[in-house]
Amino acid sequence: MTRDASENGALSDSNSDIELLPGGSRARSLIRLESVGSTNDHLKALARAGAPSGTAVLADVQTAGRGRLGRSFLSPAGEGVYLSVLLRPDCSAEAALQLTAWTAAAVCRALERCCGLSAGIKWVNDIILNGRKLGGILCETSMRGDSGRVDYVVAGVGLNVLQGGFPPELALTATSLLLETGRRFSRDAVAAALISELDRMGAEFPAGKERYLREYRAACITTGRDVCFVRDGERHTGTAESIDEDFGLVLRLPDGEREHLRSGEVSVRGLCGYV
Ligand code: BTN
Repeated sequence: MTRDASENGALSDSNSDIELLPGGSRARSLIRLESVGSTNDHLKALARAGAPSGTAVLADVQTAGRGRLGRSFLSPAGEGVYLSVLLRPDCSAEAALQLTAWTAAAVCRALERCCGLSAGIKWVNDIILNGRKLGGILCETSMRGDSGRVDYVVAGVGLNVLQGGFPPELALTATSLLLETGRRFSRDAVAAALISELDRMGAEFPAGKERYLREYRAACITTGRDVCFVRDGERHTGTAESIDEDFGLVLRLPDGEREHLRSGEVSVRGLCGYV
């Protein structure tokens, strides 16, 4: 192994002997793929075939990486971490909605632990570093028949690690760990920290909510800023005030009314290309 020395042991990308599954982990099986359309799609097929909670899929490249709201997620070979983890929480669809925010908090914790970086969260699922998008989260839920209970949730995380640049349409809004820090963090080390934190999140859901809420609120860079959002096809503006108990975004509208957003997306003034 050739690993550069660093205080957190997470530099260089050639440390193939990094232990990706944490000791005593519930992440019983890790499937590593050279190339896949989408790790989320691959894991959903395994989930339908009965794979246990904790199964994880990690790919070197995604040819059809997906983001929220039908967008694509650029996933070049050897540059990012493309990871999906299977959870089988015994909960309602409503409760499972919160897992996107829980995952964002877990990702920030992993980045802190592995890279010593304090990343932010743009509500609800974007991971932000120095005002640009470092990565994102796509959680997909499947229900157990019409029982009203969740069968499984696939929590997908994409992080830009070694990208030295982005295509023109992303150049102003996206970033990578390399671009922000000048350091070549090991993708395996980042993946190992993510698997460990997502594994822990699976064990702590839903009882550990207060801690995830506290960490989410502390990392959220949306609150206190002017935002723009689309409701019923129309564009609205407001000021993001806080994160409510269900990880919803509390907005103060121009007429003084309050609105709680449960899902969707907001543009934040001064962030990720929105002026
Ligand atoms: C977003 O930015 O809207 C979410 C991006 C999520 C990307 C990850 S990469 C691993 C997993 N597989 C996918 O196809 N998407 C998620």
